[in-house]
Amino acid sequence: MAEVNQYVNWFRQSSPYINAMRNNTMVIMLSGEAIKDPNFDNVIHDIALLNSLGIRLVLVYGARPQIEQKLAEQGTPALLHHRRRVTDANTLRCAVEASGSIRALIEAKLSTGLINTPMHGSKIRLVSGNFVTARPAGVFDGVDLCYTGEIRRIDHKAIKQLLDLNSLVLLSTIGYSPTGEMFNLPVEQVAAKAAIALGADKLILMGKEQGITDSSGVTRSELLSGTAQRLLNQYQHQIDDPDQAQSEISTLLETAITACDAGVQRCHLVSYKEDGAMLAELYTREGSGTMVTEESYEQVRDAGVEDIGGIIELISPLEEDGTLVRRSRERLEAEIEQFIVIERDGAIIACAALYNFAEDRMGELACIAVDSDYLGGNRGEILLKAVEERALQKNLNGLFVLTTRTAHWFLEQGFSAINVQQLPREKQLIYNLQRNSNVFLKEISP
Ligand SMILES: CC(C)(COP(=O)(O)OP(=O)(O)OC[C@H]1O[C@@H](n2cnc3c(N)ncnc32)[C@H](O)[C@@H]1OP(=O)(O)O)[C@@H](O)C(=O)NCCC(=O)NCCS
Repeated sequence: MAEVNQYVNWFRQSSPYINAMRNNTMVIMLSGEAIKDPNFDNVIHDIALLNSLGIRLVLVYGARPQIEQKLAEQGTPALLHHRRRVTDANTLRCAVEASGSIRALIEAKLSTGLINTPMHGSKIRLVSGNFVTARPAGVFDGVDLCYTGEIRRIDHKAIKQLLDLNSLVLLSTIGYSPTGEMFNLPVEQVAAKAAIALGADKLILMGKEQGITDSSGVTRSELLSGTAQRLLNQYQHQIDDPDQAQSEISTLLETAITACDAGVQRCHLVSYKEDGAMLAELYTREGSGTMVTEESYEQVRDAGVEDIGGIIELISPLEEDGTLVRRSRERLEAEIEQFIVIERDGAIIACAALYNFAEDRMGELACIAVDSDYLGGNRGEILLKAVEERALQKNLNGLFVLTTRTAHWFLEQGFSAINVQQLPREKQLIYNLQRNSNVFLKEISP
C-alpha cells in the first residue's frame, strides 16, 4: 500500500509538469554510445511515454562507436585531425551503414507494442528524410576532411509539418548537399542546430554522466549559460586530460551553451545510463541532471535599504486602493530585511515580505505585489516559492496570509482558509477587525 501511495503522490506531483509541457517541442540527442548502452531499451520506453504525454519529439542519433567498430573490423584506423574526424570514402561508407542500421534499430524498438511492455498501445509514427543540408567542412591546416561536413540548414518547416501530424522525426548524422553528396556530421551539431531552427522548448543531451557535478560531487541541477561557459573554459584547459567522460561533458556543455545563446530556453544534460533519468529530469521538481538556461536579466534576491524607494513606488498604488495595508517609510526601513524583491534592469518590479513567528513555527507572507506592467509572467508564484524556501530555511512549517481581495489567487497557490484563532497569538492581537481580511494557511515541507 505504501508503494501505491508513493506512486500516486509521484503521479500527482508530476501533473503540473505534464500540463506545462504538453505540445512542447523537444530535441533529444542520443549518441552512438547511448544506443549501445544496456539501458537503451529503458530510454526508448521513456521516449514513447514522452510521445504519449503530447511532446513533439525530434530524435537525433549518432553513430561514432558503431563507425569505429566497422573500421576496426576492417583493420582500418579511424582518422582524426585535431579531434575532427577525417571522413574518407571508406569511412563515409561505414558511417552510412552504421547510421542505416541504427535507424532500423530505433524504428524497430519504437514499433514494439507487445502486451505487458511499457510500449503497449503506444503506436508511434516515425519519419526520417533529407531534412539536413550539408557542405564539406573543408581543408584544415592542409588536411582535407573529405566527407566530414558542416550543416548548411535544417528544413524546419518540413519537420514542423510532420510534428503537427503527430509524427516523431528521426534525424541522423548524414547530411546531403545540393550536389547529391553525403556528409558525415557531428551528432551534437545536428541536435543543436535542429533545436535552434525549430525554436525548440528543450534540447536534451544524453551523456554518460548524470550532468555537471561540483567539487563536492553534487549534481548541479541548474546552470546559467555564463556559469556553464566558465566551467567549459576550465574543462578546455584540461583538454589533454585522457579522462573520456570529461571531454564528453565539455562537448555537451559547449552544445548546450551554443543552443541557449541562440535562443533555446532550456538544455538538459541527462544520463543515458540511469534508468528513468530523462523522466525524472522533466517531470520532477528535483530533476536528475543539469539544466543549462540563458542568463536571466531578472533576479530574485533579498532586499536592502537601497530598494526602499523602488518598493514604495511599487506598492503605493496598491495601498491607495486598499489592496495592501499602508506601510510608512520608517516601517519599511525597519522591516527591509524581511523583504524579497525581483529586480529587472535595476528596477524593482515585484516584492514580498516574510514575517517570522518562530514560536509557532509559522511565517506571515505579506505585501506580495507585482508591478502592473509585469503581471501575467508568473512572478507572483516565483516570489511565493522564494518566500517558501526562506521559510523552510528558518525552520517554519506553515505560511499564513491575510487578504481582502486576492483570496482566489492564494487558494490557487495551495493555501486553505483558516480561522483567526488559528493564527499565532501575537498576530491575533493585532488582527484588524475593520479590514475583516480572509485568513489562509499553506503548510510547507522540504
Ligand atoms: C497576486 C499577484 C502578486 C500575482 O502576480 P502574477 O503571478 O504576476 O499574477 P497575474 O496577475 O499574472 O495573475 C496570475 C493569475 O492569478 C489570477 N489573479 C490575479 N489576481 C487575482 C486576484 N486578486 N484574485 C484572484 N485571482 C487573481 C490572475 O487572473 C491569473 O490567472 P489567469 O492567468 O488564470 O487569469 C499580483 O496579481 C498582484 O500584484 N496583485 C496585486 C497585489 C495583491 O493583491 N497582493 C496580495 C495582497 S494580500
